[in-house]
Formats: sequence, C-alpha cells, structure tokens
Amino acid sequence: MDNLPISPFIASLPKVELHIHIEGTLQPSLRWKLAQRNSVPLKFKDQFYNTYEELLNSYNVTYNHRPELGGRKDVPTFLEAYFAGCEVLLQEQDFYDLAMDYLKRCKEMNVRYVEPFFDIQAHTRRGVAAEHVLNGYLRAQRDGAEQHGVRSNWIFCFLRDEPVEDGEAAYQTALPWAARSGGHGLFHAVGLASNAYERPPILFKAAFERAKAHGLHITTHCDFGQKDTHEHIRQAIFEVGIERIDHGLDVLDRDELIQGLNARGVGLTLCPHAYHRRTATEVLFPKLRQLLDRGVKFCINSDDPVYMHDVWIDGNQEKAYHYGGLSKAEMLQLARNSVDMCWADEHVKSEIYAELDAIRTD
Ligand code: HPA
Ligand code: ZN
Repeated sequence: MDNLPISPFIASLPKVELHIHIEGTLQPSLRWKLAQRNSVPLKFKDQFYNTYEELLNSYNVTYNHRPELGGRKDVPTFLEAYFAGCEVLLQEQDFYDLAMDYLKRCKEMNVRYVEPFFDIQAHTRRGVAAEHVLNGYLRAQRDGAEQHGVRSNWIFCFLRDEPVEDGEAAYQTALPWAARSGGHGLFHAVGLASNAYERPPILFKAAFERAKAHGLHITTHCDFGQKDTHEHIRQAIFEVGIERIDHGLDVLDRDELIQGLNARGVGLTLCPHAYHRRTATEVLFPKLRQLLDRGVKFCINSDDPVYMHDVWIDGNQEKAYHYGGLSKAEMLQLARNSVDMCWADEHVKSEIYAELDAIRTD
C-alpha cells in the first residue's frame, strides 16, 4: 500500500507542490547529523535512539491512528513523531539545511515551484529564536531558486491547538518576513496546522482577516475524517472566506459544500497517501473521480513524506494515476490545477503552463 514505483510519465511531469510541511521533510540522515552537530539526544519520550539503525527503525511505525477518535494510545501519534523530529532544529543553519535538502529533492522530482508550510511556534516554544527559523528559510528560499531552480513562496501556519493569542503573537513576530511592502518576502499566505480536534477554523477568523488586510492569502487544513469535518469545511468556505482548503475530501458528503467550493473557486490540496494510510483503496480512490465529475478543483500533494512512509509528491501522483485509474490527460489536468491554484507570480505560472502544454498524453 505504500511506495509504488514511479512511472516515467509521472517522474517527468513538471510539478507544483502546494501541501507540504517543511519539518515533515526532515530525513533521518539529516536528523542524525543535526543531533550530532547540536549535541541533542535522539529520542521519543523515554525511548533513546543510540544508533542510526535504531533511528531508522523508529520510522517503521505507521502513525495512522487517532487516539482522540478511539485509536491506540500506546504508540506515538503522527504529530508526536513529527514534533519529536523537530528537536534537532536549533540554529539558523539547521533550518537552512532542512529547507535546502528539500528544495534539492524538489529539483530531482521535477518540482518547479512549491509553497511549503512552516510555523515558528513549534520552535519558539522550545526556546529557539524566531529569527533562526525565519532567516534560515529565507536564505534557502533564495539559494534554492538560484542553485536548484526551485522557486518557493512559503505559508506561515498558526498552531491551531495552541491558544489563538499565541498564534497571533507568533504572526506579529514573523510579519517582517512576509511578502508585502518593506517585508523580506518569505511568506505570502497563512494557514492552520497541528491538531484540528475541537479547534475549528472560525477560532482564527480575526487572525485570517488581519493577514488578508496585510495582503496575504489564506488557507486552512480540514483533514479527511476529522471530528466535525463538515462543519469545519462549512466555516472555512462560508464564514472565513478561505481561498484554498488543505485536504477537504469530505466535501463529497454534502452538496452544499461542493456548491460553495465551486461557486467561490476554492480548490482542495489533496494528499492521497495520507488518507490511504487509514482508508481502503476501494473506498478512497473512487473519490478522486467523483471530485472530477462534480467539477471540484483539486491537485495532488504530499503532506509529510518522511512520516508517511517516504511517499513524496511523485508517489502521491502515482497513486492517483494507478489506484484512481486516471488517464494521462487527467493527470495533466491535475498538474494544471496546481498551477491555477498556486499563488506564484504570473511569469512563474506561465512558464509552468508552457511546459505542461508541451506534454503528450497519447
Ligand atoms: N496535519 C496537520 N498539521 C500538521 C501536519 C499534518 O499533516 N503536519 C504538520 N503539521
Ligand atoms: Zn498538512
């Protein structure tokens, strides 16, 4: 169910990635290196990883349960594993190395443009200076474009399970790095990350409005199968006026949600493998065609590849192609959707459209 071999068609497709958490790309080899460099013990709770093999083995767990929805309580959740990985990130150089590793990998996968999610709260609450995070990513944004030809505009996320005021304060700290007059140009949008359980988007309505007033775009996670998932999507569309939804696959259950999305031109950034971890193939993949049939705009992305069996954007596209039974022309349409849905400058978009126009699907 995990990694399919990547077909030449998918491998060569020019790609735009709109749903990836930068810390979810921290590979074990870099995590090991940073732990040595910063003298940070590698561990999860009281379990220490003393050798590289032990660290690698720790990734064999499938973090696919939700304790709050009746799932297991005795093994780490996906988010616990993700935040444990963050512990080795301390200095500006660490954030730079993380982002550059990812942007290099983007080049290898033919990702031309990416809008990575980041937050500062996961780091500042550990005592890391916000500038280390922001300047590390800013340098990587510039060097990734220069050295690897991969352009990026980043998305600042509020940690939705932390108090709203803390998120607002983090946003104020990060604002000088925003893409606005006089800003450094790192991020051009804001979103919501971390655990959505009983943390609906409406809680952040004022925070989203402030970001919009600053000229930034807004998006929110509405994860598949979450508690209150339809209500979260409804709020996002009709009350917050969100521009994109991250996941949002549950719209298929409610006509009014589909109509709301389509009337407002709101697209979904889907991550098929993230759902495949806990959903049967025959239940999940027909939904892609249903979305196409209902005229819902969506694109294919990866979420947190390192904590999701090393399935990256190409592996997610391969799953849509293979299990979803989509044709080459339909896969090309999804690639075009990602350009339509992205917030890149027009000249960046035109270059990628031109590349896509040259692809043969016969
Ligand atoms: N979902 C929600 N929040 C997150 C995720 C995710 O997959 N990864 C990092 N923060
Ligand atoms: Zn996500």
